[in-house]
Amino acid sequence: MILINLVSMKKIQISPSILSADFSQLGSEIKKLEECGADMIHVDVMDGHFVPNLTIGPPVIKSLKKYSSLIFDVHLMISPVHKYIDDYANAGADIITIHPEATDNLAESILKIKNLNKKVGLSLNPETKIDVILKFLDQIDLVLIMSVNPGFGGQKFMPEVLTKVKDLTAIKEDKGMKFDIEIDGGINFENSKAAIKAGANILVSGTTIFKDNNGDIKRNIELLRSK
Ligand code: DX5
Ligand code: ZN
Repeated sequence: MILINLVSMKKIQISPSILSADFSQLGSEIKKLEECGADMIHVDVMDGHFVPNLTIGPPVIKSLKKYSSLIFDVHLMISPVHKYIDDYANAGADIITIHPEATDNLAESILKIKNLNKKVGLSLNPETKIDVILKFLDQIDLVLIMSVNPGFGGQKFMPEVLTKVKDLTAIKEDKGMKFDIEIDGGINFENSKAAIKAGANILVSGTTIFKDNNGDIKRNIELLRSK
């Protein structure tokens, strides 16, 4: 029996972060991302409390939904997060990713997102260990591994997090689990291959996609996806 390594079989998906987009043209920027082959839209929500930056909230997300049929991969860098989950679900988030540190009851917050028929993601900051979410891995759809400290685009990739990606991949394979592994922060054409090799199957990128190769978004998405 040939045991096919399913992890390496998964299609690599690209989720461009609109944090690096032109915020005065978010609708057309999102439309452009879909036309250029993005698999989903990474929406970085920041509250100026969980992270030292402030971006957009539910009304803006709701207004952006008409510009793309892609999945809205919403990364909530807000705390407390539990009481706002309904608002983001109603605004049109398809994946709702939260930070374990941002809720008093992670099990309840996961259940709330599932009951809203949304996909559940848990995000680990660079210094947060996999142990924090180990017992929830069989209940969630995605683990978002931060390769920068959350809050800003354009930061330097932290290669030490690749060990965490490899460890998570080993757990996933060992237990035959299905969750996606997404990596987020400082992803570029050099480190994307190492991230894929470690087991990430969704790459988030803002700066590289919007700024590299004179802003050739289509080319940048294709380059990031290549193994
Ligand atoms: C940081 C955000 C990331 C970031 C990615 O807090 O979660 O999504 O915007 O942007 P780049 O690719 O520029 O690091
Ligand atoms: Zn993000």
